[in-house]
Amino acid sequence: MLVLGIETSCDETAAAVVEDGRIVRSSVVSSQVDLHAQFGGVVPEVASRAHVDLIVPVVADALGEAGVELADLDAVAATHGPGLAGALLVGVSAAKALALVGGLPYVGVNHLEAHLYAGWLEHPDMEPPLAVLLVSGGHTMLVAVDGPGAYRVLGQTVDDAAGEAFDKVARFLGLGYPGGPVIDRLARTGDPGAIPFPRAMPGEIDCSFSGLKTAVVQHVRANPDVVVADVAASFQEAVVDQLVEKLAITADATDATTLVLGGGVAANSRLRERTAALAAATGRAVFLPPLALCTDNAAMIAAAATYRLGADGPTPLDTGVDPGLGLV
Ligand code: KG4
Ligand code: ZN
Repeated sequence: MLVLGIETSCDETAAAVVEDGRIVRSSVVSSQVDLHAQFGGVVPEVASRAHVDLIVPVVADALGEAGVELADLDAVAATHGPGLAGALLVGVSAAKALALVGGLPYVGVNHLEAHLYAGWLEHPDMEPPLAVLLVSGGHTMLVAVDGPGAYRVLGQTVDDAAGEAFDKVARFLGLGYPGGPVIDRLARTGDPGAIPFPRAMPGEIDCSFSGLKTAVVQHVRANPDVVVADVAASFQEAVVDQLVEKLAITADATDATTLVLGGGVAANSRLRERTAALAAATGRAVFLPPLALCTDNAAMIAAAATYRLGADGPTPLDTGVDPGLGLV
């Protein structure tokens, strides 16, 4: 079973060929980060146009690296939500066109469900129930995974997504875009205990980051000589404290035997360290997808599509995109 996956929901144009939902035969990601950096964030119209330019060569590369042709595939899949409408349309249109030309089934994939599949790609033996922290630039969710397709969202952010908070704080500190990787790097040379930023604790499992972001701004304005690395480390520690605490509550509430991270912020070194420590302290297994599978990629799209095709069959070609699609 060979599935071509396509991902264009935000600022990555990606295509991948995955065999049997498990074996990554190729995974090509063309990032538009440099294009958007000058604006300090993703500009939707710029993203859509870049996807239009990149989609054909990226798909060709993915097929070439996998050593397959359209005729060898069993299905073509694309992210159909959530994401930027114009950006989603590029990948979905390309996937439908290829499916029509090749006489293949088309599968529309939920980007959030695909992030959950990134862990399974690397660790096929991962056994539910899982407690998953899905943290990206657009989402912060605590999910109980009872099995493939069986998800319960137990908590989420009440304001900014965690990645969004990293990006906004980095922009305020003049560190560039995207903010997560640069704060992560800078934090290694700072003191995480230097500034006691607030730990918001909204609902039992919900998260909140906008008050923290404001506290960073106020602290830096009041202390212009503050060491930026200390701000980065203290901010990151406050985010990670909150995320790990909510993951611990989720795991207890669901009797999960395994902790899993997903989404771009799962690349954060401190979050990975603390999640591994939580697992060790509570006798649970932990799966931390490799960095390339944490951030947006198409291998996770093809993996989720393989499951969805088996469970639901092909997606009708008249199904559009859904920018606001939820996990459940
Ligand atoms: O999943 P993703 O690639 O795209 C979305 O679906 O949003 O996540 C991108 C987000 C950005 O906000 C970026 O700053 C954040 O993930 N990120 C990180 C790190 N690497 C990427 N945040 C914290 N630490 C990192 N090392
Ligand atoms: Zn994502």
